[in-house]
Amino acid sequence: MEEVNVYDLKFNPMHDIAKDWMLVTAGDDKNGFNTMTASWGHMGSIWGHGGGMPTAICYVRPQRYTRQFIDREPLYTLCFLPVEKYRKELAYLGSRSGRDEDKVANAGLHPVFGDGYTYFEEANLVLVCRKVYQTPILESGFVDQKTLNESYPERDFHDMYLGEIVKVFVSEDSKFI
Ligand SMILES: Cc1cc2nc3c(=O)[nH]c(=O)nc-3n(C[C@H](O)[C@H](O)[C@H](O)COP(=O)(O)O)c2cc1C
Repeated sequence: MEEVNVYDLKFNPMHDIAKDWMLVTAGDDKNGFNTMTASWGHMGSIWGHGGGMPTAICYVRPQRYTRQFIDREPLYTLCFLPVEKYRKELAYLGSRSGRDEDKVANAGLHPVFGDGYTYFEEANLVLVCRKVYQTPILESGFVDQKTLNESYPERDFHDMYLGEIVKVFVSEDSKFI
């Protein structure tokens, strides 16, 4: 993995997050970590100086085991894996809970531990994010009741985590650079 500048990335969030999915991972080898598949997220800029802070948003429902880790840790990662090779593994990590099994080992992925964060050897893009803002999705915020009812029949609203992208790693053959 090579560290690169976030402004050099070729990234289409609508496709690369929603269609190809990502892994949201928090924790490390010392305190334990967990990961889950996510297909909802945003990338862009807000706050900061000189054109805004490069940021990524992910959304995590309260019942996810990953939630305890992302709530506990100042950092988390968003990992993008080549889907043509790892779709099955991503589906596995999005349908099993780390509460019940060592799902990373069972999916055959290899964690790499940084200073307070974890990513995967199989990723071709890793965004290390520093938590800046966290807020629950509120029912009162919905202008469109159809989206509210379709997305939250159980009213189990996601929390939104907005993080500053503090490091970016790409693999040698990454399509993102
Ligand atoms: C394609 C896909 C996308 C998903 N997107 C999200 C998401 O954006 N937010 C979320 O909270 N859960 C999402 N999930 C569900 C979690 O990945 C799933 O519940 C997972 O088993 C949670 O694992 P954990 O309990 O170990 O955290 C998605 C699952 C799949 C398969």
